[in-house]
Amino acid sequence: MQVKKVQFSTQATAFYFDAAFSTLKSVVPQKNTVLITDEHLAAAHPKIFKGWNTIVLKAGEEYKVQATVDSVIQQLIAMHADRTWTLVGIGGGVVTDITGYVASIFLRGVKFGFVPTTLLAMVDAAIGGKNGIDVGLYKNMVGTISQPQFLLYDVALLKSLPDNEWRNGFAEIIKHAAILDATMFKELLERNLDYFQRTKPALKKLVQRNAALKAKVVKEDEFEKDKRRLLNFGHTLGHAVEKQYSLMHGEAVSIGMAFAAKLSAEMLKFKGQEKLTDLIDQYGLPVAAGYDKQKVFDVLVSDKKREGEQMNFILLERIGKAVVKKIPLQEIYKMM
Ligand SMILES: NC(=O)c1ccc[n+]([C@@H]2O[C@H](COP(=O)([O-])OP(=O)(O)OC[C@H]3O[C@@H](n4cnc5c(N)ncnc54)[C@H](O)[C@@H]3O)[C@@H](O)[C@H]2O)c1
Repeated sequence: MQVKKVQFSTQATAFYFDAAFSTLKSVVPQKNTVLITDEHLAAAHPKIFKGWNTIVLKAGEEYKVQATVDSVIQQLIAMHADRTWTLVGIGGGVVTDITGYVASIFLRGVKFGFVPTTLLAMVDAAIGGKNGIDVGLYKNMVGTISQPQFLLYDVALLKSLPDNEWRNGFAEIIKHAAILDATMFKELLERNLDYFQRTKPALKKLVQRNAALKAKVVKEDEFEKDKRRLLNFGHTLGHAVEKQYSLMHGEAVSIGMAFAAKLSAEMLKFKGQEKLTDLIDQYGLPVAAGYDKQKVFDVLVSDKKREGEQMNFILLERIGKAVVKKIPLQEIYKMM
């Protein structure tokens, strides 16, 4: 196990990399801790929950809502949880978002930590302190920014993760490589999903490297004024297509990254468009979709990165170097 501490503005977060789930006992006291998980994890890994106070949520984004928060709080009250207790989210981004949010508001804030169990949560969702829930059609409409005390990484938990969820995680890994890390980009090109699923040491290294990349960006810009915005690469068009067609988040982001690469080639003479689309394709993710251009554009203009007739778009100057550029909406429409 390796422990890395990252100091955020209000909290130092300990990252326990290459850990076994059983280590959790030495991180938090079992008596004053509640594990919050979802039904898929509880079914796939029943043994790990033995001996712990546990709250099991229904799985899926549709349950990332206030009703679930209310239900968790009722269960915490029934367990007589007090300010000394710690909540630990064991799951994908839905569970970690809800756990972080409940912990930030229950008794005006109690300690919390995460054991991310999807690749996406390990490299992205569980890191950075954004916690919250959806309201109707609006994703992450309500929430807080508060950092967990710790994240514990046990890649053995990924054994039960379905393949489409692995690909979802790889979309964010490819994003990190494209915007921040040309060396990792090259390494990903030399490998594929099957390799990382079969080769635990390589997977552990990849997860740790991506978690560290995300933590570093967040540390430099916790409240998303500057560098953290780069993490939105592929997400502008991605969100617009994801909302209208039932695509997985990773698929939508991949389509968005391919589009941003095309825009980068046009606006910044970016040379790596083909390399990026090849890499996305190599990990079983789509680079295009037959969407209704006008419909998608209408959603895209409601994006919070729009400023009047222009959109702050994340583009690539080269592989490993992203920039924010103001692009006229008409130019975006033309390129779609
Ligand atoms: N807070 C942030 O900064 C941030 C960043 C990115 C995404 N998110 C949020 O994360 C969520 C998406 O996260 P996700 O993709 O992890 O989704 P998720 O939590 O819904 O997990 C995906 C599916 O995998 C199942 N699962 C999880 N771990 C498993 C395992 N080890 N074995 C078998 N099944 C398992 C879950 O039950 C679920 O069905 C979204 O709500 C998104 O808004 C948050």
